Amino acid sequence: MNLSALQKARYAYVPKLPGMLRNGISEICVKEGEPTQSVADQEKIKALFPNTYGKNEITFQKGENTSVAKKQVVGVILSGGQAPGGHNVICGLYDALKATNPENVLYGFKKGPSGLLEDDYLIFDDEYIDQYRNTGGFDIIGSGRTKLETEAQFAVAAEVCKKHGITAIVIIGGDDSNTNAAVLAEYFAAHNTGVQVIGCPKTIDGDLKNEDIECSFGFDTATKTYSEVIGNIERDANSAKKYWHFIKVMGRSASHVALECALETQPNICLISEEVAAKKMSLSQIADYIADSVEKRAANGDNFGVAIIPEGVVEFVPEFSVLISEINELLAGSKADAFNELASWSEKYAFIEKGLTKESMDVFKILPQGIQQQLFLERDPHGNVQVSLIESEKLFSALVADKLEERRKAGTYNGKFNALHHFFGYEGRCAFPSNFDADYCYSLGYNAFMLIQYGYNGYLSKVSNLSKPAEEWIAGGMPITKMMNIERRHGEDKPVIKKALVELDGKPFKFFEAHRDAWAVETAYTYPGAIQYYGPTEVCDLTTRTLALEKGE
Ligand code: FBP
Repeated sequence: MNLSALQKARYAYVPKLPGMLRNGISEICVKEGEPTQSVADQEKIKALFPNTYGKNEITFQKGENTSVAKKQVVGVILSGGQAPGGHNVICGLYDALKATNPENVLYGFKKGPSGLLEDDYLIFDDEYIDQYRNTGGFDIIGSGRTKLETEAQFAVAAEVCKKHGITAIVIIGGDDSNTNAAVLAEYFAAHNTGVQVIGCPKTIDGDLKNEDIECSFGFDTATKTYSEVIGNIERDANSAKKYWHFIKVMGRSASHVALECALETQPNICLISEEVAAKKMSLSQIADYIADSVEKRAANGDNFGVAIIPEGVVEFVPEFSVLISEINELLAGSKADAFNELASWSEKYAFIEKGLTKESMDVFKILPQGIQQQLFLERDPHGNVQVSLIESEKLFSALVADKLEERRKAGTYNGKFNALHHFFGYEGRCAFPSNFDADYCYSLGYNAFMLIQYGYNGYLSKVSNLSKPAEEWIAGGMPITKMMNIERRHGEDKPVIKKALVELDGKPFKFFEAHRDAWAVETAYTYPGAIQYYGPTEVCDLTTRTLALEKGE
């Protein structure tokens, strides 16, 4: 491999551990906290997790290590979308495991949870792991989206663990993967396998957070990467003064990524899906909201601007989600064949017009033709519309253009509107982790091993106090069941970790709300620039604006 200068330099970076983990393995002891309760539906969750429910929160402290000496054979899995820092979780896990006992072994199951089921693995050694220190990506073992959720899969996993003498599995994943980690932990306990399961909170989306988990790893680096580029685009817009840029950012349903990027770059517009839902906004209202900014800026001679659109926003527009479910129904099962046999778009359009309700047809009619076709042509294997593929940045710029034409005719708008479109997602998922993510992830992995060594099962590796310097971070663990409630999924009641959406009464949104009207009209852009790895601490070790505001800083 041809190594970049930065990659070579990053190999030498020493990630910062929380102060309490810095004194060597022999000086890490456990402080047991209070027994825990799930955030809701306590009786139901307790009944589903008789062996792992209600355990104590724990914190590590400086003090004599009292864990029982035992050879540990640990398996690690990366699950779901890439997030910067995943390699460092594995490095931290490996270093703690080897520092405890050089005979300990770390298996890496390849390509996600399927690696465990297919017994597809590698065994880490120093030479292999050193190539991945402080680097982005999940290529160290690969990742995948197979879900570990059925009894049959758990039985296979137990067999594979038995075959290799595995004592613990670490699952690095988002809310769904950690929900499944808790179910697997319960299964292993109920079947006396002796195998522990520990989770680590990963996702760039930032939606795995709660009163215990302050943020998921990867969110910091991904949002800093997008914000760098959004800032560059803002500066380009302010230099050329001739384009409106519509920028969609990843993040699934939640708007944490969009909000953080807005806090970092102060664009003219940032939609927040959770607010769209709360206010039950229609497509037309959203387009008017953006057009107001375009019109006011045009009146000041500023025919340019930047609008951030969260990936999931259209799902939150009530009329649009009704339209999607009608389309799903219209093409369910064999009905899709009749549609697919129609040769021309006009024949297809007539079929659609016949099948949709008048209300949904009214929504459908205002969509640009490209989006209309996307709704019918790009569907998932179950025949459902793939909402995340909808080019909402193009959708909104087209709707805004229509609004502006109406306003031009009414004589209220006399500007120029040229739109450009961008989608930022994959650009940020494998960036070199920021110092924050490098440190946080290494700590999560190191800490995960301490949880294993002290015999805990069904816990999430927890590192908190993250808005402070790493020295002051607090390391410990929280039973995953504490974060669970019961939700309806695919027609069934399921115990799941509650997904965190943007809270409209939370401090990050409140800050944004207090400033956005000014940003919509003025050119108040901020240019965060590229992530800095070397230099003054106030430049290199920053957390996100979201975390700082949440912590009142
Ligand atoms: P997870 O962390 O939940 O796996 O998702 C991260 C993410 O980047 C989402 O923001 C995005 O919608 C999705 O993955 C895209 O993944 P894929 O390329 O597999 O469709």
